[in-house]
Amino acid sequence: MATGATLHRPVLLTELLSALAVRPDGTYVDANLGGGGHAEAVLESAGPRGLLLGIDADGGAIEMSRMRLARFGDRLSTFHGSSTHLARAITDAGFSEVDGVYFDLGLSSDQLVDRERGFGIRAGGILDLRFDTRTGESAAELIAQAGAGELEQIFRDYGEEPHAAKIARAIVATRGSAPITTAEGLAALVEQSVPKRYGPPSRIHPATRVFQALRIAVNDELTALSTALAAAIAALRVGGRVVVLTYHSLEDRIVKQAFAAAARVCICPPRVPVCTCANQATLRLINKHPITASEEEIAANPRSRSAKLRAAERLERAA
Ligand SMILES: C[S@@+](CC[C@H](N)C(=O)[O-])C[C@H]1O[C@@H](n2cnc3c(N)ncnc32)[C@H](O)[C@@H]1O
Repeated sequence: MATGATLHRPVLLTELLSALAVRPDGTYVDANLGGGGHAEAVLESAGPRGLLLGIDADGGAIEMSRMRLARFGDRLSTFHGSSTHLARAITDAGFSEVDGVYFDLGLSSDQLVDRERGFGIRAGGILDLRFDTRTGESAAELIAQAGAGELEQIFRDYGEEPHAAKIARAIVATRGSAPITTAEGLAALVEQSVPKRYGPPSRIHPATRVFQALRIAVNDELTALSTALAAAIAALRVGGRVVVLTYHSLEDRIVKQAFAAAARVCICPPRVPVCTCANQATLRLINKHPITASEEEIAANPRSRSAKLRAAERLERAA
């Protein structure tokens, strides 16, 4: 049962508030509510009439955050589902244009220790890896059914795993006699399939990339991010901000490219000497290079090590 207590410490909190330029009485959307840490700070900054819609695919995260943020009353509304439905969630909340949308991608510390989900290699548990357990197939189902080629592609494309083929073959060879249904089982199989590392022991488990890849696959995370980002940009009022915290290069590339495309003024082919496209940029980049965590924050909260923050502002709409 949810208690409103969370293990999760929000990453780049001060930087997110500053990039979002929270306005008094503003209306905000948190596309990854999680433990509600960022949401609490945004609601506090937005003052007594500020509103926030929190979205999360994980029903447990919604329940926990609603308890944590109960003191804000009906200034908080929530949507249990994927951020792919961001446009619908905004309409359901009764908002039209919003002052800001922010994303804090990936998983929370609460999910990492949840043995019902298997997100944490060291915590172990059921190999599910879905944020929303009501829909789609679990990681155990995926690795029970997918062919070696499909698994190899998932590990390579979503995990950048150098031993993708070897691991995929080991899974297919093992699963007939011993189904792989736990995080511990998969982690041990990956460890046995990859060459032993020489030198000092690494803090990174050899199965980390495989777990990341399966999580991205079962949650269709990259498609969800592209869809939700487009919806977020479309929902912003002029001067509104979109802020995204990413944790690996695949996510960061999508955000960087989406922002760059929306900030581009001219879309004429490179060979055309004079601009004829009359294109209008929809975004202005707030920071050209991503903002990262300070040494102090990384020491206090190691999860912040890989975080990158990008932000952009909505420009005048075309007449
Ligand atoms: C890093 S946590 C957010 C932590 C939060 N910012 C805080 O301060 O506590 C990411 C959250 O996003 C959720 N999530 C991941 N992908 C999602 C998606 N496509 N749609 C909705 N929620 C998603 C996860 O369930 C998780 O609770």
